[in-house]
Amino acid sequence: MKFFIDTANLNDIREAASLGILDGVTTNPSLMAKEGIKGEENILKHYVDICNIVNGPVSAEVISTEYSAIVAEGKKLAALHPNIVVKVPMIKDGIKAIRHFADEGIKTNCTLVFSAAQAILAAKAGATMVSPFIGRIDDSNWDGVQLIEQIVHIYNLYGFKTEVLAASIRNSMHIVRCAEAGADIVTCPLSSILGLFNHPLTDIGLEKFLADYRKLNG
Ligand code: G3P
Repeated sequence: MKFFIDTANLNDIREAASLGILDGVTTNPSLMAKEGIKGEENILKHYVDICNIVNGPVSAEVISTEYSAIVAEGKKLAALHPNIVVKVPMIKDGIKAIRHFADEGIKTNCTLVFSAAQAILAAKAGATMVSPFIGRIDDSNWDGVQLIEQIVHIYNLYGFKTEVLAASIRNSMHIVRCAEAGADIVTCPLSSILGLFNHPLTDIGLEKFLADYRKLNG
């Protein structure tokens, strides 16, 4: 399972990359706004800055919603760096654009996916990745991880090549459950990645090992 970080914060990306376990980055317009990145030139430069930190796919989301505008915007994003993956919303024009990008060899991440039905459309259109938002599904009193299981099952039945990228991860248990469900990728905030380290018995055990060492060695 690949680990992506879901942020536009360069320090968080650097910290996750320094662990040696980071495979890629996802961003979205809300995450870019959170970092105060505004204006087309700055936004494009920020994507390049991210690509220069992580050697792996970097999802850059289009803000257009009409087919030809999505295609033009996506081409501009894809031209920024070979690692850019064009993130396209799950709407009719988005699916048409994903098919166009697939035919042109441009990688895509179909975002804002909340059902298996939508995931089937994304795979049929040739999306490189599909992003079901599991945290937001949990927020609406459904089990987001169950959707990951369902999509993985369907994709396996038909040999769809689209990778299942579990998004809207809110905690470390989401990561573990997505791993059990067979997600290809999880994209997480830094806090959820760091949360994977935590176990009180590790802390207690390490403290005891070091205390015993110090007893004899000072
Ligand atoms: O990048 C898309 C997704 O991960 C958003 O997560 O926490 O805003 O639901 P969240």
